Amino acid sequence: MGLLKHLLDIKSLTRDELATLLINARSFIEVSTREIKKVPALRGKTVINLFLEPSTRTRTSFEIAGKRLSADVINISEGSSSVVKGETLLDTARTLQSMKPDILVLRHKESGSARFLAELLGTTAVVNAGDGMHEHPTQALLDCLTLWERFAGENDSADDLTPISKRTIAIVGDVRHSRVARSSIYAQLLLGNTVRLVGPPTLVPAEFADPRFLQFDSPAGEAAVGKLSVHHSLAEGLEGADVVMCLRMQLERQSDHFIPSLTEYSRFFCVGERLLAKHCPVGRRSPLRSPMALDRSSPTRSPTALRCEWRCCLHCARANAT
Ligand code: CP
Repeated sequence: MGLLKHLLDIKSLTRDELATLLINARSFIEVSTREIKKVPALRGKTVINLFLEPSTRTRTSFEIAGKRLSADVINISEGSSSVVKGETLLDTARTLQSMKPDILVLRHKESGSARFLAELLGTTAVVNAGDGMHEHPTQALLDCLTLWERFAGENDSADDLTPISKRTIAIVGDVRHSRVARSSIYAQLLLGNTVRLVGPPTLVPAEFADPRFLQFDSPAGEAAVGKLSVHHSLAEGLEGADVVMCLRMQLERQSDHFIPSLTEYSRFFCVGERLLAKHCPVGRRSPLRSPMALDRSSPTRSPTALRCEWRCCLHCARANAT
């Protein structure tokens, strides 16, 4: 496998490329447990984090990662950039490129913006930190890594991805508007997992199960055949699943009324206590806004479990599975 120049999406990765990224990332987890959390992997390199849409988790993660890898990190947000004076994305990026950064990390509300810059900037490597409704590849990678940490056995070799293949992953909620869902679908299919998309027909239309609809003209597309399904019943979608990912409602991207009300939506698609009894929390990084994704009213869960759910909200069934 040649080195990837950019990371724009999961869809165009091969399984080997995905595996290499995960194996490399896993080898760095230990660095964050050291007293001095620093390695020289990016010494002498300059990383610009250009975040033109709000972000807490991704922006902080990229800044910490760059610093722990010894890069020089510069953070730019929309409010502190000339974008507020009307400068276009391309002009901003060209101005930054003239300062010779090695890596440009972009968060932007327009789908395709990361690829647009990658094609026009030439030398600088572009990393997509979330572009509109298109993809959020690094979050999908992180979710794969979380599952690997969760399911790997003590004696498994460090490059054995078997523990996170042949699993059943349920993705619940606003799949239609979610870039995280799209990247996760591609990643999980590439790993050999079965993916169930769960939600009301307005947010998870039946045609989403058709590989052609998600434009699976890629390695993930070949892996999708017979492995991707749509479920409009939460119980049916979660039955026997190894992992449940709850998406938040992407209200900032919705242009229409896709559900009658949040209350009604949560009645049918909130992953509540009864289902959680079969599913143990692991982790996820999406912002949460209300009890739409998870029933947080239950007094029976431990504070630790609740924290994990609210900060995270990716659940794994079969607590003992390896
Ligand atoms: N998960 C995620 O993208 O969160 P932020 O919007 O806070 O970066």
